[in-house]
Amino acid sequence: MSRSQNILFTPLRVGAAEIANRFVRSATHEFMAEDDGRPTARQAEVFRRLAEGEVGLIVTGHAYVHPLGKASLRQTGIYDDRFIAPLSRLASAVRGTRSKIFIQIAHAGRQSKKRLCGGTPAAPSAVYDPSSKVQPREMTAEDVQETIGDFVRAARRAQAAGFDGVQIHAAHGYLLSSFISPHTNRRTDSWGGSVEDRARILVEIVGGIKQACGRDFPLMIKKNSTDFLPTGLALEDAVATARILQAEGLDAVEVSGGMAESGRGSVWTGLRVEEDEGYFVENAARFKAKLDIPVSGLGGNRTLAVMERFVRQGRADMISLSRPLIRDPFLVRKFRLGEAVKSACLSCNKCFNPRGISCGDLKRPNPRS
Ligand SMILES: Cc1cc2nc3c(=O)[nH]c(=O)nc-3n(C[C@H](O)[C@H](O)[C@H](O)COP(=O)(O)O)c2cc1C
Repeated sequence: MSRSQNILFTPLRVGAAEIANRFVRSATHEFMAEDDGRPTARQAEVFRRLAEGEVGLIVTGHAYVHPLGKASLRQTGIYDDRFIAPLSRLASAVRGTRSKIFIQIAHAGRQSKKRLCGGTPAAPSAVYDPSSKVQPREMTAEDVQETIGDFVRAARRAQAAGFDGVQIHAAHGYLLSSFISPHTNRRTDSWGGSVEDRARILVEIVGGIKQACGRDFPLMIKKNSTDFLPTGLALEDAVATARILQAEGLDAVEVSGGMAESGRGSVWTGLRVEEDEGYFVENAARFKAKLDIPVSGLGGNRTLAVMERFVRQGRADMISLSRPLIRDPFLVRKFRLGEAVKSACLSCNKCFNPRGISCGDLKRPNPRS
């Protein structure tokens, strides 16, 4: 089959945004922002290169919507209007190209630490996290309303900064994912209990963003499909939540999984054979079967033919990549030109460089990152 017939190189709409091909750069914390969260020229350069590499949809690393929701050092902030100007330099790094750029907005919840967020981490319920030894405090109903406002204001800032859309981070055990999970959400008020009540905070955020930014402003979610905890999120509940959000105007879903406490995260190592690839794609297929909006399949996607099969077989509409694009930001273009058929990424996770993402397997440091 010629490259031009490959479904991965056909366009797709995410709400009002036309995405030139099916490749998504899954949100990847760059570890490159200033201490107060101001993004830097190094990040703009990362996005410029991904656009040059023809990634259809670039999702930035997670940006925290409130100082209490900071997850990591050198993380981008979006919690104040003063970030609009520096954020606009990230958005303009891809302007004039065929790539679109969404910013991922996030709150770390109980997966933050006092030294990062300056207070006691907040969570739906005061459920101790044995992995980090954090004892969070239960959010009041007022805190929940404030947090909804934080996400909506963050989306407005993203729009003002010129991003093409926003991705809400509701995966990996962070705050919004912990609201959906019955393990971490044990509330007995209207924000906990049934799947509808656990999803309520997301319903309010999606509705609030659509109202503040307009129905046409594209809105995607990255969602856990499982927490890998017996008392955690069930796949059927995860799919049901996505259906509820679709009815609120959500435009696309990226399906992930894992959380710190379960000891099983979202960034798996030891992927050796093609059967290991697309480790959340089967779950994505379960979402796709029940949704009308595009679904992106994620986790260890490495081989072009395998990715194409996932989309052709209707298990996903888009293919998300994180580590392969740290290894080589030009991978998608090389796929299109027939210069590569597989990512050289070893899934070794040496790219988690706290001074700025770079492929640890490539011995020479990336000169621009
Ligand atoms: C260095 C690094 C940073 C990441 N940062 C984020 C992030 O900010 N938000 C997020 O949702 N996922 C984040 N992830 C997870 C990836 O988006 C992706 O879900 C995961 O790595 C699996 O995809 P892959 O096998 O293509 O790398 C990160 C992964 C890596 C390797």
